[in-house]
Amino acid sequence: MTDSLADPHLRYSGTVTPGNGSGAGAASEAGAPRDIVILGSTGSIGTQAVDVVLKNPDRFRVTALAASGSRIGLLAEQAHRLRVRTVAVAREEAVPALREALRGAYGAGEPLPEVLAGPDAATELAASPCHTVLNGITGSIGLAPTLAALKAGRVLALANKESLIVGGPLVRAVAEPGQIVPVDSEHSALFQALMGGTRAEVRKLLVTASGGPFRGRSRAELAGVTPEQAMAHPTWDMGPVITINSATLVNKGLEVIEAHLLYDIPFDRIQVVVHPQSAVHSMVEFTDGSTLAQCGPPDMRLPIALGLGWPERVPDSGPVFSWTEAMSWDFYPLDEEAFPSVPLACHVGALGGTAPAVFNAANEECVEAFLAGRLPFTGIVDTVAAVVEEHGSPDGTGLTLSDVLAAETWARARARELAAARSATAPAEARA
Ligand SMILES: NC(=O)c1ccc[n+]([C@@H]2O[C@H](COP(=O)([O-])OP(=O)(O)OC[C@H]3O[C@@H](n4cnc5c(N)ncnc54)[C@H](OP(=O)(O)O)[C@@H]3O)[C@@H](O)[C@H]2O)c1
Repeated sequence: MTDSLADPHLRYSGTVTPGNGSGAGAASEAGAPRDIVILGSTGSIGTQAVDVVLKNPDRFRVTALAASGSRIGLLAEQAHRLRVRTVAVAREEAVPALREALRGAYGAGEPLPEVLAGPDAATELAASPCHTVLNGITGSIGLAPTLAALKAGRVLALANKESLIVGGPLVRAVAEPGQIVPVDSEHSALFQALMGGTRAEVRKLLVTASGGPFRGRSRAELAGVTPEQAMAHPTWDMGPVITINSATLVNKGLEVIEAHLLYDIPFDRIQVVVHPQSAVHSMVEFTDGSTLAQCGPPDMRLPIALGLGWPERVPDSGPVFSWTEAMSWDFYPLDEEAFPSVPLACHVGALGGTAPAVFNAANEECVEAFLAGRLPFTGIVDTVAAVVEEHGSPDGTGLTLSDVLAAETWARARARELAAARSATAPAEARA
């Protein structure tokens, strides 16, 4: 049990993180490339992680890859380029196509990697011998792999924020101090800025938000936005769920809960600041009045490389600003009326227990309904709020994985019911 799941100060205190010591995570010899497992390798985070590894073969070696099984050709090509030992897919029915694609990529006669399949395949890989597990799976399905990696003593480079949010107390119960290195750009920025002072000197975490494609719009102006408009994020190229979550700012709400859990700072000392250029990735205000910001052109390869290489920085991981050209950065307060997702997330985060899991699961269902044209844009957060309210104030003591899963199942079903009821009563133009 630890207060600060992600702790940049361990770099300087000489404390050995689990993956660097003599435990199961110490699969890489000193000087040898660090062994990495990539979960969600075919996604936005995963493909960029593969880029980082291929660019730094002297530092990293990928031993295993996991995906759900919807992009078999890409997965087979990655396996071949990286020469992995094992490839895992969640969907068992994808195995014949995967074997065929692997044979195509490797050519006749070359031995193929081991193939694992099934809903637990990524969890099995998360505990396999390696130094660092990058969890780049989307959704709360990433919780079991997160717990498995931590229990096995791996360093966890965490992009899958949902696992921390839905299973906060479970993650806390098994994580060693500093075992998690955040990959989300805001939390990586906080991690880096937090090095500038002691824990006691931190006054506030300032989490920046681009504001999404609808920044500046009122609630009334948001009612009719379409999935195509919501998918056009101004700065980041990401998977569909996180892109819609960025448009509703649910993603920012999830990030506030993530920051609270990673750095053990209360919600009233975490503030969201809208910053359209996404150049400042987040900031820490210290008790003396200093504010330290981490900035750079938006590019996830930098936080990914820091997550894989920690406590060392990987040279040339991301682009840099040209300081000889004029540029300006803007900052605005958050419009909580147009984007009620952030205060709602703080509310569920403070409730704790199964409330964040309910919030996240209801949201995932509502995003799906929105993308399918069954729910208007503002209906996403309204429906999530209704599900959260019905769930009430859960008792957070003695939380188990099955409590979380049961709460998620209930929240998904209830969100679907409420979304269907809204869809049936909404005027046709609001559903378009
Ligand atoms: N994208 C970003 O810039 C960004 C930034 C910060 C944080 N994050 C976080 O990083 C995570 C990944 O986001 P993303 O944008 O990369 O998502 P994405 O593009 O949708 O990719 C998701 C990946 O997860 C795999 N996957 C899904 N279910 C799986 C399962 N049951 N077992 C194993 N693999 C599974 C998918 O495989 P298939 O391809 O086979 O479906 C895919 O490789 C999310 O938690 C997100 O919030 C992303």
